[in-house]
Amino acid sequence: MASAAITFKILLLSALFAAVLVNSYRFEVGDERGWTKPTGKDPMSYNQWAGRNRFHIGDTVYFKYQNDSVLVVTSADYLNCNTSNPISKFEDGETVFQFDHSGFFYFISGQADHCKAGQKIIIRVMHPSEVESPEPAPSPQATGGDGGGWDSSNWEPLGFNSTTKLSVVSYLMTVLAGVFVVLYLFM
Ligand SMILES: *[C@@H]1O[C@H](CO)[C@@H](O)[C@H](O)[C@H]1NC(C)=O
Ligand SMILES: *[C@@H]1O[C@H](CO)[C@@H](O)[C@H](O)[C@H]1NC(C)=O
Repeated sequence: MASAAITFKILLLSALFAAVLVNSYRFEVGDERGWTKPTGKDPMSYNQWAGRNRFHIGDTVYFKYQNDSVLVVTSADYLNCNTSNPISKFEDGETVFQFDHSGFFYFISGQADHCKAGQKIIIRVMHPSEVESPEPAPSPQATGGDGGGWDSSNWEPLGFNSTTKLSVVSYLMTVLAGVFVVLYLFM
């Protein structure tokens, strides 16, 4: 039965990897401009930049800056550029922040005058129900511990319909194939 337990753990890990890796994407805040005090000549504001992107749970935003910082704040502190009580503060110059839930995230510069000049951004992370598909695949069931069958119908109801999603499918299939190999070795 030890091998069944190990097999189960491998299944679980593979499913987790698939769920996390398939969708996550890293956004560079402000593109090549990075996280800087607006000059007034910038082609778009940070919030215009945010509006052009779709953010999902698990995605990351990358802030690149010098002599500055990134504060995660409440909506009230965002509006007032209040830097005195941030939820989180980063000042390492290269900050990667991962969205762990859906909803609104508020970022401002740690320098209040930069914030007031427009170095602030609201990012809305989509709720999983807004994301058309795929949901993380239903975890396949190994029947019993003794050579379990795979219910291939689990993989069919996913509504894939575009090329990006095809690459997701091929990734999932790769993971699935890997799991089969491991299963075979343990049986
Ligand atoms: C950051 O501060 C250092 C030292 O004060 C200065 O030499 C440098 O030019 C500053 N960099 C930027 C991008 O403002
Ligand atoms: C900034 O936030 C702190 C703590 O949340 C609060 O005490 C202070 O009054 C705020 N300042 C302004 C200008 O809103």
